[in-house]
Amino acid sequence: MRLLPPNAAHRAALLALKAGLMPPAPRLDDPVLRSHVFGLDFASPVGLAAGFDKDAEAVRALYRLGFGFVEAGTVTPRPQAENPRPNLWRLPADEGLVNALGFPSDGVERFVANMRRTYEAGPLPGPFGANVGKNRDTAAEDADADYAAGVEACAPVADYLVVNISSPNTPGLRDLQAGARIGALLDAAMAARGRAEPEAPPPLLVKFAPDMDEMALREAAEACMAAGVDGIVLGNTTVDRPATLASADVPVRGGLSGRPLFPRALAALRVLARAVDGRLPLVGCGGIDGPDAAYAMIRAGASLVQLYSALIWRGPGLVTEVGSGLAERLRRDGFSSVSGAVGADL
Ligand SMILES: Cc1cc2nc3c(=O)[nH]c(=O)nc-3n(C[C@H](O)[C@H](O)[C@H](O)COP(=O)(O)O)c2cc1C
Repeated sequence: MRLLPPNAAHRAALLALKAGLMPPAPRLDDPVLRSHVFGLDFASPVGLAAGFDKDAEAVRALYRLGFGFVEAGTVTPRPQAENPRPNLWRLPADEGLVNALGFPSDGVERFVANMRRTYEAGPLPGPFGANVGKNRDTAAEDADADYAAGVEACAPVADYLVVNISSPNTPGLRDLQAGARIGALLDAAMAARGRAEPEAPPPLLVKFAPDMDEMALREAAEACMAAGVDGIVLGNTTVDRPATLASADVPVRGGLSGRPLFPRALAALRVLARAVDGRLPLVGCGGIDGPDAAYAMIRAGASLVQLYSALIWRGPGLVTEVGSGLAERLRRDGFSSVSGAVGADL
């Protein structure tokens, strides 16, 4: 895969999964890894982060890699093209990626149709998340309507929803994280969820950037709790370029992910965990490349973790490695379940 240009490798990986060409991972069925978070049951706390399967084309195959849960998207209400290429770069010396894709999407109608087709073969083996965003050409003042549309359309086909306001590649998107805007946006998203699924509304999460400072994270946490959302994903890619990067010619635009993001993601998670103080479950994401990183995220306050970039560097076997390594570490430290270790370092 790495001999192909990055965009082509991504497409090839998705097609291979869809065609069933990836060998399934051994099923991890270990009671120590089981948890119950925002009303859902997870056989493993290790999930696939958003952005790999943006249109929910290969969801069932992704569980076969060993993920306890899968998040597809970001999906936008209307179809839109990716940003002009180049928009995806590998940083091999750092095991990192930079992307400036900008939400390429077939649109929410196709996403929902893909999921309906997926469910025709029976229920999925773990919770499925739909991550929603806004179209590039939707004016900032109309953003709430885009999120409401995505939430309303996806609620019937998702076990949980994620409002993504932290991609650095849609101009103005991160401004929605700020105190003045976020309250109205979350109210609109929550109302849309209630309209779609009044009987059993799926949990709704918000995904933030690891670039937020302590004050911004505290404000964001308060806004989430005031709106009644069910959890927070922290976080997305960073616009920072750490001085520790070994790669030459790192692109200045786009979001950095993978191993060089980990210290920042972990530090931000710790701040957020202190701010929410157990009142909201957190999903830790950013630079997880093995069981130690996943375990550190959990001990810093994450109830669940997600990864994406390290798959490019370590291959699909990484998912089982993280799951079984996590189980080993939990037992070693005397925990009988993931939930016992959540926030142990705080
Ligand atoms: C190529 C690429 C595309 C991504 N697209 C999305 C996206 O559409 N929506 C989203 O919420 N996050 C997206 N992300 C961010 C990931 O979900 C994740 O938050 C981030 O990459 C940090 O995790 P990682 O270091 O394990 O990759 C994308 C990341 C990459 C590398």
